[in-house]
Amino acid sequence: MPTQRIIGAINMVQVVRIEGKDDLDTLHKDLVARMSDAAQNPHGDADWLCGYFPMLANMPDSRTFAAQIEGKNIALFISFEVRPTECFLNGLRTDPEYRRRGVSLKLVTSMDSQLAAAGMSVVRMGVASWNTPMLALAEKKLGLTGTPFCGIRCKVFSESAAALPVRTAGADDRDAIVHIALSDEMLSQSAGLVQCQPGQFCAASASYFEELIRDGHVHVVETDDGKIGAVAVVAPNRFQPMPSLNFIAGPSTEHVITLLSGLRRFAPKPSEANSDGVMPTQLFGYLPMESTAIKMVAAGKVDGWERHTTTYEQVFSWKAGGIQPQPNSICAGKPASTCPAKKKASDTCEYQ
Ligand SMILES: CC(C)(COP(=O)(O)OP(=O)(O)OC[C@H]1O[C@@H](n2cnc3c(N)ncnc32)[C@H](O)[C@@H]1OP(=O)(O)O)[C@@H](O)C(=O)NCCC(=O)NCCS
Repeated sequence: MPTQRIIGAINMVQVVRIEGKDDLDTLHKDLVARMSDAAQNPHGDADWLCGYFPMLANMPDSRTFAAQIEGKNIALFISFEVRPTECFLNGLRTDPEYRRRGVSLKLVTSMDSQLAAAGMSVVRMGVASWNTPMLALAEKKLGLTGTPFCGIRCKVFSESAAALPVRTAGADDRDAIVHIALSDEMLSQSAGLVQCQPGQFCAASASYFEELIRDGHVHVVETDDGKIGAVAVVAPNRFQPMPSLNFIAGPSTEHVITLLSGLRRFAPKPSEANSDGVMPTQLFGYLPMESTAIKMVAAGKVDGWERHTTTYEQVFSWKAGGIQPQPNSICAGKPASTCPAKKKASDTCEYQ
């Protein structure tokens, strides 16, 4: 009976943290390297995780977890402590042979408990809008509601953009910047989130902006009367050499457009192309779907910038330790006494 096989398998699944070179190498060989099948992603060429896994798994703030059956790795997910006690999860993968048996659900739920026990306060993850299985997992099984963020990119440096009146913010700008970033309008668009690294998000807190101002990564354009008209964060990207656009907003559309144009000074220069003429990675970032910047770029109002694709990223957030998965669909709505996996009355079912 297929239902018995499914529940029997999930009861055998252990979720463990994978640490140390040997175990990470085994996980890479067992699972990650086998995920390079381009057919898994209708909008991509190959699974990005294959190339990035060794770097990600070895970052000091990352924790790699695997779901295992009898020691065999069948799924993985990596957690990054992107800000103190704030985690962002990336790279969930279930071995194609073990899909749709509740393995990811068990992995996420167990990681959530383990991260809460390690002192984390909030956990987040992003799901591409084309990924209907993963959206179903987040929305239907975990009961989460996402906030849409859309990618925009700038491919080429512009001399005229570099001449626009954009200045780097200083400590005196702190209050005005925090006020713009934490305005009701921004919070309603972003659910209080901001990109902190490409594809990773954290709370848009005053301390997030303060640190970036201190390090010279916040840029502004001024209004005629010397107030801040728009503010942007272009910060180092720890995955690639090009900095990323993490934030841009302001009280007036005109100033947001000027600032976005001015940020083309950070885009790759033609002289940076390699010997095959290939340009380095582009200036790229995820911004709230409803933000002025996204609307202006989508409408073709900002030279040099374009929307990444027609897809976007749903960002989900929950209190660490608070995940409450819905029962597996094969059990949902049925009393525990009828669980098809039970062979004897004392057996317990994962989902009841
Ligand atoms: C998405 C993925 C991680 C799901 O892993 P999984 O172990 O098969 O997921 P689960 O069995 O725990 O599924 C839990 C729920 O997710 C949803 N789901 C999973 N696969 C689904 C599918 N193919 N179609 C529709 N819903 C699906 C369902 O709601 C399911 O619950 P149900 O079976 O009770 O209906 C897996 O398909 C995968 O590795 N895909 C390729 C990589 C990827 O997209 N990763 C996510 C990046 S954010």
